[in-house]
Amino acid sequence: MVVRTLGVAVVGFGWMGRVHTQAYARVPHHFPQLPLRPRLVAVAEEVPGRAEEAAERFGFASATRDWREVAADPRVEAVSVTAPNFLHREIGVAMAEAGKHLWIEKPVGLTAADARAVADAVAASGVQGAVGFNYRNAPAVEAARDLIAAGEIGTVTHARVRLFSDYAAHPEGALTWRYERARGGSGVLGDLASHGVDLARFLLGDIAELTADTAVFVPERARPAGATAGHTRASGGELGPVENEDYVGCLLRFASGARGVLEACRVSVGEQNNYGFEVHGTRGAVLWDFRRMNELGVSRGTGYQDQPVSTVYVGPGAGEYAAFQPGAANAMGYDDLKVIEAYRFLRSVAEGTPYGTTLGDAVHSAAALDAMTRSAETGTWVSVRP
Ligand SMILES: NC(=O)c1ccc[n+]([C@@H]2O[C@H](COP(=O)([O-])OP(=O)(O)OC[C@H]3O[C@@H](n4cnc5c(N)ncnc54)[C@H](O)[C@@H]3O)[C@@H](O)[C@H]2O)c1
Repeated sequence: MVVRTLGVAVVGFGWMGRVHTQAYARVPHHFPQLPLRPRLVAVAEEVPGRAEEAAERFGFASATRDWREVAADPRVEAVSVTAPNFLHREIGVAMAEAGKHLWIEKPVGLTAADARAVADAVAASGVQGAVGFNYRNAPAVEAARDLIAAGEIGTVTHARVRLFSDYAAHPEGALTWRYERARGGSGVLGDLASHGVDLARFLLGDIAELTADTAVFVPERARPAGATAGHTRASGGELGPVENEDYVGCLLRFASGARGVLEACRVSVGEQNNYGFEVHGTRGAVLWDFRRMNELGVSRGTGYQDQPVSTVYVGPGAGEYAAFQPGAANAMGYDDLKVIEAYRFLRSVAEGTPYGTTLGDAVHSAAALDAMTRSAETGTWVSVRP
């Protein structure tokens, strides 16, 4: 096998910047068959000193505060865009136009128009594009999809997708970019519901129309005193308004005729990453909870009523599980999903054809989020038009 190196860069070094960087480093450990070895050539981060610190700790060859230097750097062949949502469009389009393959975080901008602009730039320049919809990479989620597609639960009738978290529940959670419409977009819609839409589509196909209700439960937060990363606390600072949604509840009609409920909330006290789904069919059901990532609840058979639910521990036959553990019921973690995502992105680059998530998936998800916003404003059912 001929192995070549691929110069990669990371733009925005908060939580996701770190996770993408570690995923690049780990891909050759888990996927030695990949004929590409990522080399960390540049990191861009606007907070003074943060890029240098990342370079020192993770081994990037260079550090800058200006992402435009990354776009102009001929050593960089692929870029992770892990900066806040409001920068996705500008940076994503610029990187694609500069001929860089693009691994960009969800939700890809603030609106479907933003996601579409990045998708168009990727298509026009012929680079590969991948999006951070990591939950579909869980081997158990892939197993669930296979099981549904094989008709093991009969015809899908309805599903529930939930994404409940407490990351914004603390009243002293700082007023970061996440809570501003201009920089964070539609709040929990982009943060969590975007993942839910992708999971729903991955399992059940396209969403035809939806109706939604949204709410803000923590209307004011304290402005942070300095630079933030992740979910920083602030107290005593000047209060400012939360401009985007804490909660969305949504009814879905799939193109298949199946019905769904999607609910996402970022201020759910008592819920830590309670992400998952229940999919019901005419003969069975399949259930998944992110916090027990390698388990599926499966009910199948011909019992219909009182039919038991079994716990299935997925193993090496499911998705990319075999790249991590040799037997079922060995735990995998969140970061492993990003290693799988990095592998699929790099495999797309190596083979010149998409493998895994694409910008098209981001456009579909963003179109559903736009439809949720419109529905919440008008109180009507809205078609999802990617
Ligand atoms: N896939 C997932 O599960 C997942 C999880 C969390 C976040 N995300 C997404 O990842 C993105 C980043 O989220 P995060 O949690 O890492 O946020 P974060 O606040 O921890 O990190 C963002 C970083 O970008 C930097 N930045 C801001 N402006 C910049 C600029 N002009 N140039 C370079 N760097 C800049 C910030 O200083 C910060 O260090 C968001 O789009 C978010 O939706 C995805």
